[in-house]
Amino acid sequence: MPTIFDRGQKGRRALALPELSRPEEEILRAIPAGMRRKNPPRLPEVSQPELVRHYTALARLNYGVDTGFYPLGSCTMKYNPKLHEDLARLPGFTDLHPLLPEEEIQGALSLLWELSEHLKGIAGMPGITLQPAAGAHGELTGMFLIKRYFEDRGEHLKRQKILLPDSAHGTNPASAAMAGFRVVSIPSDRRGMVDLAALKENLDETVAGIMLTVPNTLGIFEEDILEITELVHGVGGLCYFDGANLNAFLGRARPGDMGADIFHFNLHKTFSTPHGGGGPGAGPLAVAEPLVPYLPVPEIVKEGEKFRLRYDKPKSIGRVHPYFGNFLVMVKALAYILTLGDEGMREVSGAAVLAANYLRVRLKTTYKLPYDRLCKHEFVLSGEGLAPGIRTLDIAKRLIDYGFHPPTIYFPLIVREALMIEPTETEPKEVLDAFCEAMLKIAEEARTNPELLREAPHRAPVRRLDEARAVRQPILRYPFLENPPKTQ
Ligand SMILES: Cc1ncc(COP(=O)(O)O)c(C=O)c1O
Repeated sequence: MPTIFDRGQKGRRALALPELSRPEEEILRAIPAGMRRKNPPRLPEVSQPELVRHYTALARLNYGVDTGFYPLGSCTMKYNPKLHEDLARLPGFTDLHPLLPEEEIQGALSLLWELSEHLKGIAGMPGITLQPAAGAHGELTGMFLIKRYFEDRGEHLKRQKILLPDSAHGTNPASAAMAGFRVVSIPSDRRGMVDLAALKENLDETVAGIMLTVPNTLGIFEEDILEITELVHGVGGLCYFDGANLNAFLGRARPGDMGADIFHFNLHKTFSTPHGGGGPGAGPLAVAEPLVPYLPVPEIVKEGEKFRLRYDKPKSIGRVHPYFGNFLVMVKALAYILTLGDEGMREVSGAAVLAANYLRVRLKTTYKLPYDRLCKHEFVLSGEGLAPGIRTLDIAKRLIDYGFHPPTIYFPLIVREALMIEPTETEPKEVLDAFCEAMLKIAEEARTNPELLREAPHRAPVRRLDEARAVRQPILRYPFLENPPKTQ
């Protein structure tokens, strides 16, 4: 598809700029000579219809939650109410300058404070920071908190190990390693849960903590979670819960009651900000009492009816994000929490789990289900053994022809040819049924006409891409010099 620079003709304009309010020379004089452009910027020269058609054509090539079902496991691609986008666009929020004095941002501080109180309540934990910009950033911040906690106790040289179930999300070991810990992998047992015997073998005074993805990447809740946290606490370690999968138990269970010391939220999965596409997210961290002194500064405190930023926390790990984190994501999260209330949040997790189990049961007789048990918000099938020579990639590509975004594939690593399906709570039963019909039809095609799968997608703008090359040799800029646009 041509870029916007390949369209139009010299001299075309999509809009008329208003007259200058001052003479041009006067404006130019106000800009120091060394900072003035020598040449005009290279801009596309297109008419308004060309501009609109170009971006409309691009948008049509895109697939999103607003287009259709998006069962991308581990990503909670649910529909997010448009009202919350409108709220986040209110000028009172978007025009706020983060360097304004405290007295002039009382509204924003009260919003952040109120959100913090709700998140603490949902987690059942007394401390919070809203600063981390994403889930993985929350994990890294959590690892820094663990480090600082042990430094303060003079145990940091000894406590170097972070235990990581092999069913954890991939960012967990990366975060622990980036913070300087040694990662020790704990295998899963036949039930898809932490192998308690293996866990016990690795418990000693060198353990700084464990990172549990709750529920884990198989969509399974650790039945022994109380025993696990007790065992880790028993050797003086801390328990980090990756709460990015909170959609599975929102409003029903609190990590604080299960022994979590640190818990991160992915506001951009659970609380009304679309996940993915590189947009802003937020990964607030809730913590148990012993970790409160180490939380990032500033802390937002309420004194009477006023809000204040507190910096005098000598044990704090410092800032992990400028200003207050991704503020507009927090506006949407608070709107979501207030709109749903306690009962609505319980319904979210109830419906998400019901949808996943409905699909799991409908598909498990046709597709291999390596861990066949009640799941939470997602489950993992295997494309292995469907038909000779057919791989999970083929199934995923064929789903595109049926109008569905494919599930996450080849993750988690502990399932061969994995297909990780997360339907979320916002899809009606007809959509779930249509997805099942497509999956069942594809299984039949795999046996009767395997070429159809191997060459899929047939109805997408592009066919099979060399995905490895796209990662290894990304082309990130338009080659103007070698291929100058027509308008130059
Ligand atoms: C279970 C889990 N943990 C951590 C993350 C990392 O979150 P982020 O992509 O915001 O860094 C994700 C991402 O979706 C996740 O699913």
